[in-house]
Amino acid sequence: MPEGAGVSNGVGHMERYRLTPLLTSEEIASLVKSLADQISKDYRGRALVFVCILKGAFMFLSDLVRHLQIPVQIDFVRLASYGTETKTSGTIEITKDIELPIEGKDVLIIEDIIDSGRTLQFLRDRLILSNPNSVKICALLDKKARREVEIEADYLGKEIDNVFVVGYGIDVNETYRHLPEICYVTPVDQENE
Ligand code: IMP
Ligand code: MG
Repeated sequence: MPEGAGVSNGVGHMERYRLTPLLTSEEIASLVKSLADQISKDYRGRALVFVCILKGAFMFLSDLVRHLQIPVQIDFVRLASYGTETKTSGTIEITKDIELPIEGKDVLIIEDIIDSGRTLQFLRDRLILSNPNSVKICALLDKKARREVEIEADYLGKEIDNVFVVGYGIDVNETYRHLPEICYVTPVDQENE
């Protein structure tokens, strides 16, 4: 575990974070497998399209697809939100849109973490404008206590407390996406060491 590794904060100096394990790679694999089984059962015979939100959900998407037992089309969106590093503000825009037609299809949004819910609310409302048959949400993690708008995952890996997590595709300042496990981070300078 790379405890207390230095991470550039993007404004020229390094910040130190302590990493504490939250989910092992085995626990993640088992959550992902059961989500894939459920989705395979529910969407059999349907025209399914996964819309993965970049970048945080890329690893979750690829493992989910590997376990899927039905055909699926895959597309990606990238959203920019104007907030702080740890909080999504009200202003969200699409910087990379989907490329596949989704009219009449069954769309499942693949997201890493639901926090305020604003990102998913924005994307779901926008995808609905293209007249898909359905739009549902699959999220690996959910910080339910942080919700600011009414949105729920239709498929959820696990609810977590209000902690900032990294690993398994999820970053802080573009670092730690490569970790096979999910850890929560505590800035070392916020601890009384
Ligand atoms: P929301 O719009 O507030 O629900 O924010 C969701 C987005 O915030 C997720 O797609 C993540 O990119 C990011 N996010 C929320 N919590 C965390 C976290 O603990 N670690 C890293 N990114 C997070
Ligand atoms: Mg994200």
